[in-house]
Amino acid sequence: MELSHKDLLGIEQLTAQEISLILDTAVSMKEVSAREIKKVPTLRGKTIISMFYEPSTRTRTSFEIAGKRLSADVINISASSSSVVKGETLEDTGRNLQAMNPDLLIVRHACAGAPKLLADALPTPVINAGDGSHEHPTQALLDAFTIRERLETLAGRSVLIVGDILHSRVARSNILLLNKMGAAVRVCGPLTMMPRAVEQLGVEYVPCLTDAVRDADVIMMLRIQKERQQGARFPNEREYSRFFGLNRAVLRHARGDVLIMHPGPVNRGVEISPDVMSLPYSIILDQVTNGVAVRMALMYLLTGK
Ligand code: CP
Repeated sequence: MELSHKDLLGIEQLTAQEISLILDTAVSMKEVSAREIKKVPTLRGKTIISMFYEPSTRTRTSFEIAGKRLSADVINISASSSSVVKGETLEDTGRNLQAMNPDLLIVRHACAGAPKLLADALPTPVINAGDGSHEHPTQALLDAFTIRERLETLAGRSVLIVGDILHSRVARSNILLLNKMGAAVRVCGPLTMMPRAVEQLGVEYVPCLTDAVRDADVIMMLRIQKERQQGARFPNEREYSRFFGLNRAVLRHARGDVLIMHPGPVNRGVEISPDVMSLPYSIILDQVTNGVAVRMALMYLLTGK
């Protein structure tokens, strides 16, 4: 089986079978990272260019590590060091990079649809590494891999996503993926951070956090997306934390073995308390580890045919 699209622009375009293919491929990719020599020749001779027009620690680093573990040549471009600062358009930048014959482009951009613009204009496969409030498909795939690693299956699991659902591309991609894979999704957060008619996304909205955590298999906390908000959505961070922050008192209402996730970067003491981050069922750093395997799998599936 192969992926049916040239690019990975969002979870929306993937079938459940394609999601399973990516996650199954990532299982063997993870094994490579456990070896003493963490390198295989799979993508030797391939050139991967990552274009990050927004800040990133996890996504950018793990794409670079993923490409290098597969022996590809990986080149990183950031907006501040590119000719974007001289006024070049994204499409012109893409056409100039295309002229150097890359095998894969990875794009993060503040504008929703920027990766699609490049994907439509260029023959090279494009991976969306996060575009505005639209999608962050590789984050949802690594989250799914991490849940599956712990709970074996996504089908029938109950996943709670807490926070800024309205502006979060992580939430959007996760909701799409979890629905496709048969998980039940609940969301919680201030009404000012919920999309209108949120239930139409295929989720249950529970306004109170202590109610929302009950019986959940997974609690996924989100960072407040200040960079994408227009106007104040809540009085202040202390107030937000009081009602929607995950702490030990809230966890007393949850299952003892509930998995705690966060895509990062974390605002410690706002959406999650530091002591909760280090509980045995906190798998936040597992998510980061698995990001490399999932991105290796995608690089292989999109370029290695
Ligand atoms: N989760 C995530 O996208 O983190 P970065 O912004 O550090 O890449």
